[in-house]
Amino acid sequence: MQGEPEVAVLRLGHRPGRDERMTTHVGLTARALGADRAILGGDASKSQGTVEDITDRFGGPFEVELTESPKAVIRNWDGRIVHLTMYGERVQDVEDEIRESHAEAGNPILAVVGSQKVSFDVYEAADWNVGVTNQPHSEVAGLAVFLDRLFEGRELDREWEDADQTVVPKATGKKVVPADEE
Ligand SMILES: C[S@@+](CC[C@H](N)C(=O)[O-])C[C@H]1O[C@@H](n2cnc3c(N)ncnc32)[C@H](O)[C@@H]1O
Repeated sequence: MQGEPEVAVLRLGHRPGRDERMTTHVGLTARALGADRAILGGDASKSQGTVEDITDRFGGPFEVELTESPKAVIRNWDGRIVHLTMYGERVQDVEDEIRESHAEAGNPILAVVGSQKVSFDVYEAADWNVGVTNQPHSEVAGLAVFLDRLFEGRELDREWEDADQTVVPKATGKKVVPADEE
């Protein structure tokens, strides 16, 4: 989030066709819940396009990049790496330490999520392997809970810049207005 050390999300192992929707949702969740950037491994150009389109319409700042070498992104990351995995330490046990490293010590965070099996070198490269429960579920759910814990809910109040449209919260029904009419 603006004014805070960077948080980027790296999506590993995208399989074109099969993973399109999940990769898009990783990007959308990263954007909506306070990350600054998503880096999508493999040929995820469709997902990149969808997330960019949403950013154009509903605001940013948020960047989406593709990489052919997620391993190089991990190797060259100048900050801390949090790998989300059902096998990791419990998020509630390590969140203070991660937050301190990010908010107080000023380290950028790369949050890494997988799709199919994640190779062991990612576990070794991570500063923290973090489980959101030690139950199998989803990269989208794991990422959402992790970001909310990292930002302690501040991401829910963030302001969006350069939006074309804004959703007006309503108890019932749908209301979307041009951003300059808000
Ligand atoms: C469908 S899972 C596949 C995991 C795979 N079995 C493995 O060995 O890594 C896809 C991704 O969801 C995320 N994930 C699934 N369960 C999780 C949990 N309990 N906590 C955190 N992340 C989780 C991880 O990032 C994982 O790579």
